[in-house]
Amino acid sequence: MIPFVDLKAQYASIKSEVNAAIQGVLDSCQFTLGSEVAKFEEEFAAFSGAKLGIGVNTGTSALHLALLAAKIGPGDEVITVPFTFVATVAAIRYTGATPVLVDVDPVTFNMDPAAIEAAITPRTKAIIPVHLYGQAADMDPIVAVARKHGLLVIEDACQAHAAEYKGRRVGSLGDMACFSFYPGKNLGAYGEGGMVVTNDAGYARTIRMLRDWGAEKKYQHVLQGYNFRLEGLQGAVLRVKLKYLEGWTEARRAAAARYDAGFAGSGVRAPAAVKHNRHVYHIYAIRSPNRQAWQDALQAAGVQTGIHYPIPVHLLPAHADLGYRAGQFPHSETAAREVLSLPMFPELTEAQTSKVVAAVRALTERASAVA
Ligand SMILES: Cc1ncc(COP(=O)(O)O)c(C=O)c1O
Repeated sequence: MIPFVDLKAQYASIKSEVNAAIQGVLDSCQFTLGSEVAKFEEEFAAFSGAKLGIGVNTGTSALHLALLAAKIGPGDEVITVPFTFVATVAAIRYTGATPVLVDVDPVTFNMDPAAIEAAITPRTKAIIPVHLYGQAADMDPIVAVARKHGLLVIEDACQAHAAEYKGRRVGSLGDMACFSFYPGKNLGAYGEGGMVVTNDAGYARTIRMLRDWGAEKKYQHVLQGYNFRLEGLQGAVLRVKLKYLEGWTEARRAAAARYDAGFAGSGVRAPAAVKHNRHVYHIYAIRSPNRQAWQDALQAAGVQTGIHYPIPVHLLPAHADLGYRAGQFPHSETAAREVLSLPMFPELTEAQTSKVVAAVRALTERASAVA
């Protein structure tokens, strides 16, 4: 079976270094925040083209605190997309603000910049584009419409470490950017983790306080904060892994290129990478109107797949109270019905990508024989 992700293969490749880093934290007993987290914050912010980084416990908390630092709360509206992981919308709701959804582009599945202006009201405070699957959203028109209306832009870069837009790293394209270090992400912790990066010292200072009980100094609580601190062990593991991220990113891109070449001319609907983007392939999703049959057949052929995501957020029971209906975001709804994520991780071998290509091509050939 070719797994959808293979965290064990990656651990095996860095085992002694990671074990030593973990041992270092055990010896120092800096289990929460501490020097490894502080160094990782500096290194990851620099990697993402930003001045400041604030480590937190999850990507969800990164989004939540970025919004709070921007003073977004009840009565405010934040524009984002329905075709994303639920956390993007949930984080907006944690603040008491209302998510206002706009559809995605049918080719890239990222926010359609042309849909934004009609969604802006006097209550709109910010836009959260999601760099879905590891490909940057079309940031120039998004930032332009935000600036025109005095709105903030917070990048949801949880799937897009090291991705680039017109030669610039995601993380430096808006006012703040939020990353997740969930284990399966392109840069994954051995547990949970997240970070906000920004060039704005005021936002950074507020987020630093909010993640640690709103304290300016120990027991001096100036804000109503949270316990959203990043653990020392995660900081140490992530510092080791960050050194490999460029190489792993190129390995993902090479695996994606092998898939693309293998599917060329076959009728398989491969993902579209926009020319000015450096797509980092957190997810490599093909499309099929017969997705369930394809997923079952691939499983039987020894290829594990995933679906990111089967239900757009506006149709999830948890967010039904937002009042959206089926049919309102047709591109998101079609994408949710058709996408199928193939195995994608840096250690994928040529033999593995060849086997996946053959198994997928067999499905299209069967389909055209039936037709
Ligand atoms: C687009 C997106 N936003 C937000 C999150 C939330 O990150 P986390 O799981 O670290 O809370 C994730 C990942 O899970 C994600 O993929």
